[in-house]
Amino acid sequence: MKLTKYYYLVIAGLLIISCKNNNENDLAINDGETSSIEDKVSVLLSKMTLEEKIGQMNQYNGFWDVTGPVPENGDQAKKYDHLRKGYVGSMLNVRGVKEVMAVQKIAVEETRLGIPLIIGFDVIHGYETLSPIPIAESASWDLEAIKKSAQIAAKEAAAAGINWTFAPMVDISRDARWGRVMEGAGEDTYLGSKIGVARIKGFQGDDLTTPFSIAACAKHFAAYGFAEAGRDYNTADIGTSTLNNVIFPPFKAAKEAGVRTFMNSFNELNGIPATGDKYLQRDILKEKWKFDGFVVSDWGSISEMIAHGFAKDGKHAAELAANAGSDMDMESYLYVEELAGLVNEGKVDIKYIDDAVSRILRVKFELGLFDDPYRYLDEAREKEVIGSQEIHDAALDMAKKSIVLLKNENNILPLKKDGQKIALIGALASDKTSPLGSWRIAAKDSTAVSVLEGLKQYSGNTITYAKGADVSIGKTEFAFEVKINTTDKSEFNQAIKVAKQADVVVMVLGEHGFQSGEGRSRTELGLPGVQQELLEAIYKVNKNIVLVLNNGRPLTINWADDNIPAIVEAWQLGTQTGNAVAQVLYGDYNPSGKLPMTFPRHVGQVPIYYNYKSTGRPTLPGEDVVFWSHYQDEENTPLYTFGHGLSYTTFKYSNLKIDNTFSKNKTVKISVDLTNTGKRQGKEVVQLYIRDVFASVTRPVKELKGFELVALNPNETKTIELILSEDELGFYNNQGAFIVEDGDFEVFVGGSSQTELADKFKL
Ligand code: NOJ
Repeated sequence: MKLTKYYYLVIAGLLIISCKNNNENDLAINDGETSSIEDKVSVLLSKMTLEEKIGQMNQYNGFWDVTGPVPENGDQAKKYDHLRKGYVGSMLNVRGVKEVMAVQKIAVEETRLGIPLIIGFDVIHGYETLSPIPIAESASWDLEAIKKSAQIAAKEAAAAGINWTFAPMVDISRDARWGRVMEGAGEDTYLGSKIGVARIKGFQGDDLTTPFSIAACAKHFAAYGFAEAGRDYNTADIGTSTLNNVIFPPFKAAKEAGVRTFMNSFNELNGIPATGDKYLQRDILKEKWKFDGFVVSDWGSISEMIAHGFAKDGKHAAELAANAGSDMDMESYLYVEELAGLVNEGKVDIKYIDDAVSRILRVKFELGLFDDPYRYLDEAREKEVIGSQEIHDAALDMAKKSIVLLKNENNILPLKKDGQKIALIGALASDKTSPLGSWRIAAKDSTAVSVLEGLKQYSGNTITYAKGADVSIGKTEFAFEVKINTTDKSEFNQAIKVAKQADVVVMVLGEHGFQSGEGRSRTELGLPGVQQELLEAIYKVNKNIVLVLNNGRPLTINWADDNIPAIVEAWQLGTQTGNAVAQVLYGDYNPSGKLPMTFPRHVGQVPIYYNYKSTGRPTLPGEDVVFWSHYQDEENTPLYTFGHGLSYTTFKYSNLKIDNTFSKNKTVKISVDLTNTGKRQGKEVVQLYIRDVFASVTRPVKELKGFELVALNPNETKTIELILSEDELGFYNNQGAFIVEDGDFEVFVGGSSQTELADKFKL
């Protein structure tokens, strides 16, 4: 704190001196404590030249040598030059107090108006200390824990000078081939909306001006998760009903929760690249939903409209994006190069420039950057907060809550703590980098606790480790990619030998952390490389196997489900991976996670999701009839359904009651009794689904409309009440109006989307 004040005094002094040169930035900083943010924005706007306004709409990626000598030519030199002229409003990927201070000082002290930069960064699941990847956190269904995780991530990132994260990703994803399913909350709109809101509240806190909270960004608006065939950046072609009922609601919920920024997306939607889509950005987001923060483009997405075949050239792309409502250009360089000319030619109305700049300035004022542009820049705080015990504790807590117990035959889990010979097999078991996932720009290599390290802390057993096979064989030239080992089985024999001598075999198999994420789509969903063969080879000598999965997406693991007695879904759990997995395997923590995304039996079923629509021919009408909606070679059902997850205890659902006596207000109360019928304390996610049996626009066969995470002691029973209001009972029609239609509804309650109890009511 002291340091910040010191800087502030020095800066104030510098400001007075530099005003004599060309700095008039007192207006930005000292424009009266009493006037409202809106007044401050318009006063500042009135002082800005067109070039300075456009500068606020320009975001540059970091300069690698920002604290070193200034380059004399090339892109870097241009960026410095623009920064000095006030032609840069934001930077991303500048991190650490020293680096951020260097660029912020230029913006505040050397430009004419001294408008501070807003510093963005992909704080996706942590900054330097990583919590589980977002799909894993979502598997906790624990909104408080997810909020806390985002809060902790914000605290660590803010200590490194960051004031804006490009998260949460609230894209709904139904296609496991798409690499970015790891970054979202899965396939369900209701759950995804709740989780998105929890993350936003965590990042932004109650007060954006504290140096512990950062602005959030709902991305990618819109339909990025619906890339055809799961291939990243691919075309999306979406009908009105899906757009309104599946894709938009998490974004709308984000807006209502006060998210301060949106990011548009790379994909085209129904023939229009989202970045140049006026319908999405102006008509829906800014007009209909009244969003008053700003929209940032995705990386280079303005210039990508040329490749899309939508813009003739860079100038045309800038025109289309600005007119469509993309307020800030991330790394296309096109606004800064083209917008002034476009305004002067009358192709972009100055009212759009003023609107965009006002939005950006508004968020900067809200963050308190004008009161103290160095408020995030405190080296003492940086040292104290980054990697602190508090942050590691929170990451561990979240990691345990994210684990899903998929199968546990004969209670092979939890493992005994003493007297066991355990064989630990799999390259991922000792990997200290893969658990960090692919969104880990600020995390150092090899900083995760491996499963091997985690298990070793329980010293009552003998643990013998054998790699079995490498998952990846080194990195490609692009450091963030891995080459999968599809041939080398030379270490199988050693693993087989170790397995033969063991009481229990723990195998950690799955995807490397760099196999999911942006640009990392797959056509197959099985265990990559030679791992399936390894699993089968070990099974031949010891059937007592606990399979711990590492993955950023649903996998097809039919063979494992048929043969392996225990399967634990451990995703990529971040820095504390090994500790979390060990606590679950040994029963110090009773797992309660539930899948936020369906696991298919076969990649050919994808996209597969629980809330599908019925067809006119949903079920087999007779033994010899072929003409019904099915496959010849695979079942329609998934391997693991949405919402599935076991516990070391068991639960019983009973006494489902529906009270629609308030149906005049279209509110229905559902209650159900949940009993812990096992021998351990445990938590269960009670899930409520409905079906609107017939409607003017068809509704899914089942839709999640409520859930509660309930903790119970053995033999304890609790009555859980869940309310269905108009928000849950209605839907959007094809004109985009939200309507609630009277009629028949079915209600389903249980511990997964294959629910246990059902009843119905009339509205
Ligand atoms: C591209 C990604 O799509 C987006 O989500 C991310 O925030 C930006 N790059 C910035 O890194």
